[in-house]
Amino acid sequence: MFDYSNILTNLRKNGYFRERVAVDSPQDRYVLIENKKVLNFTSNDYLGLANSEYLKEVFYKKIKKFGVGSGSSPLISGYSSQHKELEDELTQLTKLDSTVVVNSGYLANVGLINALSDKDVVIFQDKMNHNSIIEGTRLTKSQLIRFKHKDYSDLDQKIKKIKKYLKIIYVDAVFSMTGEFSDLKKISAIAGENDALLVVDDAHGFGVIQDNSDSFPSSLSMYNNNDINIDAYIGTFGKAVGVFGSFISGKNDIIELVIQKSKPYIYSTALPASLAGTVLESLRHIKKNKSLNKKLTENIKFFKQIAKKESIKVQESESPIQTIVIGDPRYLKKIQESALKAGIYIQAIRYPTVPKNNDLIRISLTSSHSTKDIERLLYFLKTI
Ligand SMILES: Cc1ncc(COP(=O)(O)O)c(C=O)c1O
Repeated sequence: MFDYSNILTNLRKNGYFRERVAVDSPQDRYVLIENKKVLNFTSNDYLGLANSEYLKEVFYKKIKKFGVGSGSSPLISGYSSQHKELEDELTQLTKLDSTVVVNSGYLANVGLINALSDKDVVIFQDKMNHNSIIEGTRLTKSQLIRFKHKDYSDLDQKIKKIKKYLKIIYVDAVFSMTGEFSDLKKISAIAGENDALLVVDDAHGFGVIQDNSDSFPSSLSMYNNNDINIDAYIGTFGKAVGVFGSFISGKNDIIELVIQKSKPYIYSTALPASLAGTVLESLRHIKKNKSLNKKLTENIKFFKQIAKKESIKVQESESPIQTIVIGDPRYLKKIQESALKAGIYIQAIRYPTVPKNNDLIRISLTSSHSTKDIERLLYFLKTI
């Protein structure tokens, strides 16, 4: 008989057993863990909106008007005027043809791949793509071909070998466990030359990456419109937007295909209308309050500058995700525990989330952190 307990024993023995930490406070600059207030560097709440007074007020009002539950799936009666308004706003922000709001970023990827897949479809993916894209493909009849991380000549060679199938290139815009950016201009050129569709998951860039223009912050803002041609784009509401849920924007046919064919979309209760309405107000709030992104950018700069001065070996990243590779998962766990004792909460990321022996400390910077908070973190990191 299959021995499940053996799997758990091995996870414990090799330092890969995961334990959940019960946070007893809102997500914020500080969180409460076992009655201890600790400085939080683990949250993807990049703009500090998850506990914002303004959005909490909006949410109360929306709940009064629309209730707490959606009652059914979007194709029954779970789709509301709030979802529709949110989708229209997202279509404007992304400058793509249309949008569908879905329940989470994980389900956006699984659901989009489910709708696009067929035995004659080949999906090319960066090796470091998010798990939802890799597993989402493995659940289908489509063929999965992975190229070396950020190695676009490897992608080019692999895609040129495939002749007759429908080709899709599917990438993270910002890698969740390293904070690096994909080069969407190069990838888009390869997609164009090889007659492939391009899908971009911008979970960690949507609401975050801001150029000097007036456009909504996203990884797309780093490029000229003429330089990239995207067929579908995914953003999440649970990270910089501070709420919950996700969306897919893209070419009309692709979005319509999701609504008609995507099983996770069709067969799951819709996001509550009150939540969709709150997300809409959060997007407007981000657009109006450029100071949030400005502060986040300053914090990233400050962190990198001091880390360099103090010779702390942080990996190259221009995003709020900053990492230090430790390698040994047991030692990494010990570092996390001693950080907690020092009142600092950092995340230990271990295999299989990252490749073996690449176990790392993941630091999430937000606009809520002060320079003093960052100095305190770096002072601790210097001791390891
Ligand atoms: C690149 C990427 N895509 C999708 C997701 C999933 O998004 P969600 O948390 O909304 O399910 C994540 C979550 O961390 C992610 O990093």
